[in-house]
Amino acid sequence: MPESTAIHPSTYSAILRRSFRNAFPPAVRGEGVYLWDAHGKQYLDFSGSAAVNFIGHGVAEIAAAMTAQAKQLEFVHSSQFTTPVAEEYAAELLGFAGKTFEGGCVYFTCGGSESVETAIKLARQYQVEIGQTKRHQVISRGQSYHGSTLGALSVSGNKRRREIYLPMVREFAHVGFPYCYRCAFDCTDGCRNCGQEYAAELQKAIEAANGEVAAFMLEPVSGATLGAVVPPPGYLQTVAAICQRHGVLLIADEVMTGMGRTGRNFAVDHWDVAPDILVTAKGLSSGYAPLGAVMVSKRVADAIAQGSGAFLHGFTYNSHPISLAAGRAVLRFVQEQKLVRAADSEHQGSIALGLRHALESLREAKSVGDVRGIGLLWAVEFVADKDTKRPFAAQLNFAGRSALAAMKRGLLVYPMQGCVDGVEGDHLLIAPPAVITAEQIDWAVKQLRKAIEEAAL
Ligand SMILES: Cc1ncc(COP(=O)(O)O)c(C=O)c1O
Repeated sequence: MPESTAIHPSTYSAILRRSFRNAFPPAVRGEGVYLWDAHGKQYLDFSGSAAVNFIGHGVAEIAAAMTAQAKQLEFVHSSQFTTPVAEEYAAELLGFAGKTFEGGCVYFTCGGSESVETAIKLARQYQVEIGQTKRHQVISRGQSYHGSTLGALSVSGNKRRREIYLPMVREFAHVGFPYCYRCAFDCTDGCRNCGQEYAAELQKAIEAANGEVAAFMLEPVSGATLGAVVPPPGYLQTVAAICQRHGVLLIADEVMTGMGRTGRNFAVDHWDVAPDILVTAKGLSSGYAPLGAVMVSKRVADAIAQGSGAFLHGFTYNSHPISLAAGRAVLRFVQEQKLVRAADSEHQGSIALGLRHALESLREAKSVGDVRGIGLLWAVEFVADKDTKRPFAAQLNFAGRSALAAMKRGLLVYPMQGCVDGVEGDHLLIAPPAVITAEQIDWAVKQLRKAIEEAAL
């Protein structure tokens, strides 16, 4: 296939594509917040692909760091060697994560799903090491997404992504979650009180499992499935306290929210919550190389080191030196350019605050029911009726249509369906690189408003 040919639904491609119904233009270049296809069309990447890119596209320092590593040493197997880049970068990441992971360890993978698998197995092994051999269940929340491998799917609540694989996945309990725009308690206080009701569900689920729960996993700020839902004050703290009281490890899935995306190094920092295990990916390498990381607290690491002494789990490409060189250079760039502060939507003058104000203006649009989020992670939820919050019929695919209309206008956003009940409900995820400017936001939001109007026609 020539470089300049797009894949259309009717075109044969040697790639097993994600959809045989959509067209895929051939991307050839990226710089800053922009991507270009082979036809010269420019796109503003308003969703950082899928909340991946945090530092902008085409940053030369990252490519240089990867090249230097590839020239020096491209790969060794983690059963035989460690590497200087792995040791130095792991220490830097623990430092970035702060007090919670002081004296802890990092396990490097190639992405989010591998990291979630690793975290689940680590939780089980920790419990076995400390003599809690009955504990093997991992509770998670409905309307969540933790990855596409079977273990990660078993702890995910995303109905559409699980549906056909259900007979193949191990089922553990899913608990309710605060989603203030559609709160089941009809609250009027931003879920301050009912956040506690949702936390109490976890306690009940742990008690109902008769001492078999090893861990509870959650996205501190919901990612794609629910769309940037921020937890009410007190909820995460109560959840953490419940886990601690019941000997259940708390796993924070920060694949999407980690590495500065929400305006803190990690989203849990907004609420001073200390997870036992933290999983991150996406922004970790900003997409420059496949990379994920699992951070474990000293307590968890010590239990294994002083217990059986071996973590019986691994992927060939753990700690891949070129991916680590990319991640390390990205971390340096984030710190030098003060991008976490840029992503802080509570900080006066930050670009994230500018984004928040600009997106809030979309509430005026007829089909926009809610605008929510934090930092540089936002969602726009659509409704057919603002008063009743009735969603569009799922077959209309309003999110997909508005994303397509935006793409035609040269604007990339991330459409999702199912936020209401796993099937109905449409929203767009907005997660631009932190190097976006006020003018670019202004242009993007104007295009988005027009795209939403076009989708409603
Ligand atoms: C919260 C969360 N966890 C896990 C994953 C899976 O990560 P990956 O697609 O890198 O395997 C994702 C991906 O979107 C995610 O958003």
